[in-house]
Amino acid sequence: MKPRIVLTRRIFDELLPRLADCEVVDNQADLVLDAAALAARLAGAHVLLCGPTDRVDAGLIDAAAHLRAICNVAVGHNNIDLAACRARGIVVTNTPDVLTDTTADLAFGLLLATARRITEAERWLRDGQWQRWELEQMLGRDVHHSTLGIVGMGRIGGAIARRAAGFSMRVLYHNRSRVVEEHGAQWVDKARLLAESDHVMLVLPYTPENHHYIGAAELAQMKPTATLVNIARGGIVDDGALAQALQAGQIAAAGLDVFEHEPQLNPALLVCRNVVLTPHIGSASKAARLAMANLAIDNCLAILAGKKPLTPVV
Ligand code: DGY
Repeated sequence: MKPRIVLTRRIFDELLPRLADCEVVDNQADLVLDAAALAARLAGAHVLLCGPTDRVDAGLIDAAAHLRAICNVAVGHNNIDLAACRARGIVVTNTPDVLTDTTADLAFGLLLATARRITEAERWLRDGQWQRWELEQMLGRDVHHSTLGIVGMGRIGGAIARRAAGFSMRVLYHNRSRVVEEHGAQWVDKARLLAESDHVMLVLPYTPENHHYIGAAELAQMKPTATLVNIARGGIVDDGALAQALQAGQIAAAGLDVFEHEPQLNPALLVCRNVVLTPHIGSASKAARLAMANLAIDNCLAILAGKKPLTPVV
């Protein structure tokens, strides 16, 4: 009997032949599957290949009596109830490394767009408002030679720090553990990072403890000229408090790739002039997304062959 694998989302067509030895329940039509529809598909399934927006909670896991593995096509895994997986002996894998540089590039793109007001200036130009060059027009804040505060110095944080060196930035970081400071980055506590950074970049994983890691109190500790970039996960920032801080000029600007209730956005953010918004595209290059999907399949095939997965979480 072929092992049964359920795919929650559309996957690159060219990768499907890699699953030829499995009974594949795919979703190439990319239908929106609610919890009940997903549970129905999971009955009899051995592997679930899912993405960061699929909520795999204890109820869903209970409904999948034969499930042996969950292969997430994402490095983050806060969408999966790891405790429930451990209790059932279900292996969970993610896709680290293959998206590190791609995500760090997007972080830098957002930083530049935010600090130098690139998207705001483009909107203004397209609106037909540009009449002449002015000395004080669209003044932003420098990225080069400024102080960058990185919260979360994992793989992606390190790749951002390497990019910052090219911009002659001073790099502060905050992390639960101090890592080898190979990029000239200096560990500081959270309060000092918020107070001293010209640009704050969030790269930490989402956990219940990190819920609203940046809220009204933290925004009040930042410089009024500071920018904030979140490429980590929605929920790490209190989006309502951020919109208020942006409207009040408490901080200068923000660049956000992730949101508390994505794809729904807090309407207050949408009317802020000084925010750059992208739809969770941190890892969205063709090469990175292909590599992520391939790595998830590698993990799935290894597990089905009775081998160790390449990138296990649990
Ligand atoms: C991840 O891998 O966790 C990203 O958020 C998906 O792009």
